[in-house]
Order: sequence, then structure tokens, then C-alpha cells
Amino acid sequence: KPIHIINGPNLNLLGTREPEVYGADTLDDIKELCVEVAAALDREIVFVQSNIEGELVNFIQAAGRDGAGIVINPAAYTHTSIALHDALKAVDVPSIEIHLSQPAKRESFRRRSYVAEAVHGTISGFGADSYVLGLQALSNLLDTND
Ligand code: DQA
Repeated sequence: KPIHIINGPNLNLLGTREPEVYGADTLDDIKELCVEVAAALDREIVFVQSNIEGELVNFIQAAGRDGAGIVINPAAYTHTSIALHDALKAVDVPSIEIHLSQPAKRESFRRRSYVAEAVHGTISGFGADSYVLGLQALSNLLDTND
């Protein structure tokens, strides 16, 4: 079963969105990177993005049905969404939260993550490498649980 990589709001604008914070890679660049890393790990991925909270809930539910696990960058919904928290708790597959930036050292409203309490662990602050590290961590976790 594939690993589902789920991306939240405004991540479709990566490349031009505050590049000093989020880097120069576009979401397509990051997707290609993830495809390569997944192939090296002998895994398949499903890579999706939405700006809409309910659609992200649907993506999480779909990953619970058809996926092996979830790597999620919930973007701003990290800091607001009980619906994403509940969805991640509702599915029976492991999930890892990732961020390009390090929210803990930014504005105080980014310090709270509602998602953190529903995931296995969090990787943040490594730019596009956070996706690579998240994929590797989840793949290891799945190997351990096999
Ligand atoms: C982000 C961090 C969030 O605080 C922010 O709202 C984002 C991106 C990151 O990847 O660094 O949109 O999740």
C-alpha cells in the first residue's frame, strides 16, 4: 500500500511564497524528490494538496482505507484544526507531521499544534528535507510494525 503525503493550504504556492522562510522548491519539485526517495525505499506514494480543510479530512480518511501511512504537512491548519486532529486519530495507520520551517521559533500563534497530539512524531525545520526525513521515518516505522 502507498504512503500518502498530504499537503495543506498555500503549499501549492511554494517557490514564490516567502522563499526566505519556505525555500525555492515548488511543490512539484518536492513531489519529484519524494517519488525518488520512495523508490529507493521500495515504497509507492500518493501526493496530494488542498487549500480546503474538509478535503484534507477526506484525504486522511482515504489514506486510512487505501494507504500504509501518512506524512502530513497540515500548514496553517496545524495550529487550528480539531477536525484534522480527529481524522488522524480516527484512522488506523501511522502518521508523521512535517513542516518546512521550524514553527517553534516563529510567531507565538504557531507554537500550538493540534495535529502533534494525533501523530507518531514531528519533523520540522529542514526545508524540503523534512519531507525526505518524514518519509524515511515513516518507512522505518512501517518496517518495525510489520
Ligand atoms: C508550515 C508552517 C505553518 O506554520 C504554516 O502555516 C505553513 C507551512 C511549514 O511547512 O513550515 O503554511 O506548515
